[in-house]
Amino acid sequence: MASKVVDVHTHVYPPQYVSILKSRSKVPYVRDTTPGQPSRLIILPGEDDPSSESTAKGRPIGPEYYDINKKIEFMDTHGIDISVISLANPWLDFLDRDEAKGLARDVNDAIDSMCDAHPGRLFAFGALPLSAPSEVIVEEIHRLPTLKYTRGIIMGTSGLGNGLDDPELDPVYQALEQENMTIFLHPHYGLPKEVFGPRAADYGHVLPLALGFPLETTIAVTRMILSGVFDRFPKLSVLLAHSGGTLPFLAGRLESCILHDAHYSGPEAKVESRRSVWDILKTNILLDAVVYSELGVRAAAIASGADRVLFGTDHPFFPPLEAAEGEEEQKWLSVTTNYKAIREAFGPEKEQAEAVLGGNAIRLLRLTTD
Ligand code: URA
Ligand code: ZN
Repeated sequence: MASKVVDVHTHVYPPQYVSILKSRSKVPYVRDTTPGQPSRLIILPGEDDPSSESTAKGRPIGPEYYDINKKIEFMDTHGIDISVISLANPWLDFLDRDEAKGLARDVNDAIDSMCDAHPGRLFAFGALPLSAPSEVIVEEIHRLPTLKYTRGIIMGTSGLGNGLDDPELDPVYQALEQENMTIFLHPHYGLPKEVFGPRAADYGHVLPLALGFPLETTIAVTRMILSGVFDRFPKLSVLLAHSGGTLPFLAGRLESCILHDAHYSGPEAKVESRRSVWDILKTNILLDAVVYSELGVRAAAIASGADRVLFGTDHPFFPPLEAAEGEEEQKWLSVTTNYKAIREAFGPEKEQAEAVLGGNAIRLLRLTTD
């Protein structure tokens, strides 16, 4: 029997979330611009800044963002058996404290029901009401195991507002560890726009997406490591978007900087008890394979092990720039590039490639329902 292909990095906005985006006039929002043209999705910080012409318009939003049947069509076109769907950024981060709890429940229930409508094809990462008090967040985590298809949560890098090394997050990490819910850590906020310079608008979204996103993830997970999150919660499982940003490449430098820093302080800095970056990479970290190159996939497999790297697409982001009109859905370059990278990274080691394409996700995320 052919082994299964599983996409662990694939997003959806359930209809009630789209309604909220449509009702807003501040980022994030959806707006209709030109009659007859698709609505536009404006989500990234600064994306509606009028001085930044090329990115000010966001991106077109069509049914591939909210119609689950479009996800299934996309999966069929690309040979994907199972998708682990997650809410796209910026999740519930922007909600007021009072609305967050109810909407988290609604969104998590809606996404789980989408899975139920396509049994065997879909599983889910839920979302957390991070602007609510921590008891509310913890309560939602303890509710997640009642959702048949939910295997973890997706979240950004801001945590409760102060990043992922915030000690106030300990009850959240503890509940996630206890419920065996994987954190899918995904970027959204990028880097301060000044680092991209005055010509940034000439380059569209290239700098924030190619570099800002991965560096944001790298810094966020490094802060978790430095603050001892994985020492306090040794069973916590974190799936890093975009193959860990630059963590596989920089892990050695990070470990070396730690060992040479006389001012790295706090209880977690004690050399005898501290877990090394390499140990954490091989025990707590999962890396998606959304890195678009053989070199990137190999780095991920060396850093965390080929048994901890998982295929993904980032659908519905990165569609082909020009769709072939009137034809059946064409294969997306962003997806075929990731398939090719996996094939080339493992060459004759076909079993490892198959594990990355699906077996690892099925095992590590428990993608069965009996
Ligand atoms: N991929 C995502 O998941 N989100 C974005 O905003 C852009 C690309
Ligand atoms: Zn994504």
